[in-house]
Amino acid sequence: MIRLRVNGRDRELDVDPAMPLLWAIREQLAMPGTKFGCGIAQCGACTVHLNGNAIRSCVTPVAAAEGGEVTTIEGLADLVEGEGLHPLQQAWIDEQVPQCGYCQSGQLMSAAALLATNPDPDDAAIDAAMAGNVCRCGMYSRIRSAIKVAARASAVQFFDPATSEVEEASHG
Ligand code: FES
Repeated sequence: MIRLRVNGRDRELDVDPAMPLLWAIREQLAMPGTKFGCGIAQCGACTVHLNGNAIRSCVTPVAAAEGGEVTTIEGLADLVEGEGLHPLQQAWIDEQVPQCGYCQSGQLMSAAALLATNPDPDDAAIDAAMAGNVCRCGMYSRIRSAIKVAARASAVQFFDPATSEVEEASHG
C-alpha cells in the first residue's frame, strides 16, 4: 500500500510501487488534469509538484512519492490564500496563453514552482525554469509574459505597507 498526500488529502493506493505517479494520479485518483505527453520526461506535460519541487510524473514511480506531498493542477489554486484561482491561472487567462491547451497544466506547475522560490524572475530565470516544458503551439512568449504578470499580481497581493518596501519597483 502506497500512502501519500495529494492536494492536501491523504490517499492510500494499492498499486504496483513501480507504477508511474502519472498513472496513479490519472487512473487511480481520477484526476485527469495532468497530461501524458512523451512518457520519457522530455516534454513536461506531466509536471506535478512533489514536496514543492516540479517533477515529471511519467518517470517517477509512485513509490518515490511515498509519504510525500503531491500537488497537481487540480490543487494549484489551493497553494495561495483565499478563494479563487492561483495568480498564474488568472494571468494565463488574461494573457490568453493556451492554444490547444495540452501542455498547459505542466507549464503552470513548472511556473508555480519557479515563483515559489523566485517571486521576481527575469527572462533568463524564466527560460531556465521552463526549458523542460515543450509547447507545440509555440506560446513561449505569452508564457513568459504571464509569469511576469502573475509575479506582479503576487507582489501586490502580498505587499505589506507597514514594511514600506516597494516591491513593484523591481518589476519595471
Ligand atoms: Fe498547445 Fe502548448 S498550447 S501545446
